Amino acid sequence: MKYYIKTFGCQMNEHDSEIIAGILESAGYQPAEDLAAADVIVINTCCIRESAENKIWGYIGNLKACKYQKPGVILAAVGCMMQQKTIVDLLKRQGRHLDIVLGTYQQHRLPEYISRVLAGESPIVDISEDNQDFPDELPCRQSCKYSAQVNIIYGCNNFCSYCIVPHVRGRERSRDFSAIMSELHSLAKTGIKEIMLLGQNVNSYGKDWRRQGQTEAPDFADLLQAASQVEGIERIRYMSSHPRDFSPQLVDIISDLPKVRDYYHLPLQSGCDRILQAMNRGYSTADYQAILAQIREKTPQAAVTTDLIVGFPGETEADFQQTLDFVAKCRFDAAYTFLYSPRSGTPAATMAEQVPLAVKKERLQRLVALQNSISLEHNQEYLGQNVQVLVEGLSKNNPDFYTGRTSSNKIVIFKGQPEQIGQLVDLTITGAKTWHLEAF
Ligand code: SAH
Ligand code: SF4
Ligand code: F3S
Repeated sequence: MKYYIKTFGCQMNEHDSEIIAGILESAGYQPAEDLAAADVIVINTCCIRESAENKIWGYIGNLKACKYQKPGVILAAVGCMMQQKTIVDLLKRQGRHLDIVLGTYQQHRLPEYISRVLAGESPIVDISEDNQDFPDELPCRQSCKYSAQVNIIYGCNNFCSYCIVPHVRGRERSRDFSAIMSELHSLAKTGIKEIMLLGQNVNSYGKDWRRQGQTEAPDFADLLQAASQVEGIERIRYMSSHPRDFSPQLVDIISDLPKVRDYYHLPLQSGCDRILQAMNRGYSTADYQAILAQIREKTPQAAVTTDLIVGFPGETEADFQQTLDFVAKCRFDAAYTFLYSPRSGTPAATMAEQVPLAVKKERLQRLVALQNSISLEHNQEYLGQNVQVLVEGLSKNNPDFYTGRTSSNKIVIFKGQPEQIGQLVDLTITGAKTWHLEAF
């Protein structure tokens, strides 16, 4: 039997798909070359914004053709979008052609459910939130030979008022410290050079145990320090961190960890205090600025990127102007910018004063233009500098060149060799663009 996985969504979903592949392969399945060759098709879904859900509805619709061509093919949808009861009800009403629907808590049971479908049961829906027996260790099919993702905490307790994630990924559950460390050691043995520690809010690592009275439980700083000791791992990244939980002590600790300290991603969301409060973010622009100042003071070489949402309900032109001013002040290396998308079941979706789409789009354009000019200025500071780059492979846009990343997570395009893939190479920067650096 052959499987094919289509993944939507964030890095956490990418990694979940690697685990689903690992689980299926342990159960004897093999990867299919393409959709048509697959006996089982798995769609790993996302619901962070309406645009993601629309794309997924389209993809699921197109899979009907696969069922016609190969009636025995098993179609399974898993992941965040499927964890929503409203979506499952809609799927049921529409009599969609899916055989298996699993939420975020149950996807490790996929082989068991496939066997049940093969035995004649279909459709099967399991979006139960029971995760009592969720395993700490699961097989994983590593999609990259030099960089790997490692789960450290599941779920989120923050309930930002716009965000669906806590509703579909549940409350925070830290992963066992020794399970994480043994995974890091075995990854290092296979030649992995870079690891990405994953969680919706990595700063919360261990807090669930502390709340239960385990005062000696390890925290995120302990994890970063221990991970830094793993020989062979050269770079450690993490995704995402929350500014509210970014203490001065944590910045101090990171500043002493060369494998970690050159890159920060610290989602700001808005530069207006009133909006931040309505978003339930738990920090003010002044708090944010204080962390940023400390990062810049301790590690002036570090790059800092952020996430921003425009058009949150009630955001006025003056509020948005405050975001522009604050972004100009913070001088991020890059920003991931999003149009606010109402998510049903979240408080923001029913707030009065939803901002019209045309206004959101116009604001987004202004924000992107401002950020692009700042990104370019940052990149120009690299001209003539020597950097160390972890080589990723051929550039997608220009196959005459290779692409890699600096320790500050900047993309560098250069003339490389195939044997350099997965290696650290030293380069001198000769060109700077908005989104990448050049060394040729
Ligand atoms: N835990 C991560 C968030 C993951 S979602 C964090 O807090 O950083 C990634 C980004 O998507 C968020 O930072 C936010 O900027 C954006 N986002 C989340 N919900 C959104 C919504 N309803 N509309 C638009 N953007 C949203
Ligand atoms: Fe969503 Fe906020 Fe949790 Fe991030 S911290 S996943 S934005 S609720
Ligand atoms: Fe999407 Fe779920 Fe990630 S909603 S952004 S795949 S946590």
